Amino acid sequence: MASRKQIVMSGIRPTGFLHLGNYFGAVRNYVRMQEDYECFFMVADLHSLTTHPDTAELKNNVHRVLSENIACGLDPDRVALYCQSHVHETAELYLLLNMLAYLGELEKTTTFKEKARLQPDNVNAGLLTYPVLQTADIILHRASLVPVGKDQEQHLEMARKFAQRFNHRYGKIFPEPQAFNYGSELIKVPSLDGAGKMSKSENQFATLYLSDDDELIRKKVMRAKTDQGPTEKNSPKPDYIENIFLLMKLVSSEETIHAFEEAYNTCTIRYGDMKKELAEDMVKFITPIRQKAESIRNDENYLKEIMEKGAEKARKSARTTMEQVRSAMGFNY
Ligand code: TYM
Repeated sequence: MASRKQIVMSGIRPTGFLHLGNYFGAVRNYVRMQEDYECFFMVADLHSLTTHPDTAELKNNVHRVLSENIACGLDPDRVALYCQSHVHETAELYLLLNMLAYLGELEKTTTFKEKARLQPDNVNAGLLTYPVLQTADIILHRASLVPVGKDQEQHLEMARKFAQRFNHRYGKIFPEPQAFNYGSELIKVPSLDGAGKMSKSENQFATLYLSDDDELIRKKVMRAKTDQGPTEKNSPKPDYIENIFLLMKLVSSEETIHAFEEAYNTCTIRYGDMKKELAEDMVKFITPIRQKAESIRNDENYLKEIMEKGAEKARKSARTTMEQVRSAMGFNY
């Protein structure tokens, strides 16, 4: 008998422009995984309300995330590409899972602590239970693989914990989901200033967005932090130089990388030249995605159609899971 395909699920919040971190941490994996797995990818509009309660820009941002995903190579006929709020079963499972999540563990979550610090006047309950909603997204489809960047590792640990708790208490329904990346490690794409990671809403001049035009890409790359260069052969690289090499590894050819490694190790490197090369390779990488995304974004009817089709597929899978959940929990009176 043919074995059932493993199920894959992941999501992106519509809180701004997609950047290289989203691409290399998440979307690049989605595009490969659609060949081999049954995939559910969604725009996490409900999650975005925990930090962006104003919904004036939401529609635009949802459209943007969808267009950019498709421009990167996601095929909406192959995967379920949908919007989180269109699948109401998510809210039901979220509520049920909330009874299995403890205040102490939620308060200790790194992302909660970080966001509570950033928005002290809006430490809402949704922020606290963010990982519970994320767990609901994932296990609603009984997914076992979740392509994400390194920053989501702790959320995935929590998802496993909540799934285990459910299984233990009510019967084994859910696989334990694992964070996934082709290659061995989950990745973190660093920001161009060497401080932290690329991000949708912070650090905008140190982040390369898939919508940046050629001149802006060049400007940002040329401003990346460097120094006078090494004075001793084969010396270790400072973090901000390591980051430039890391970015180069994402978009440049092996020969190019090799040549600059060599120049670094022999103290002949010229960072101006290195950044020029990196900028041109980034432009080559980003331009076709930007152009394709722009043309898709202008076609509202197409996007609406895709969201409807995606939500239908997602709801079908969600309904099957929720029937099992309700029955396992004893909601049968
Ligand atoms: P979000 O919207 O912050 O990011 C979307 C994806 O991009 C990855 N990512 C990065 N990877 C590498 N380097 C970076 N600098 C970088 N910045 C972002 C993130 O790891 C993520 O994979 N909580 C999720 C959204 C979500 C979700 C889910 C994910 C909601 N429900 C269910 C998986 C499964 C988030 O905030 O992603």
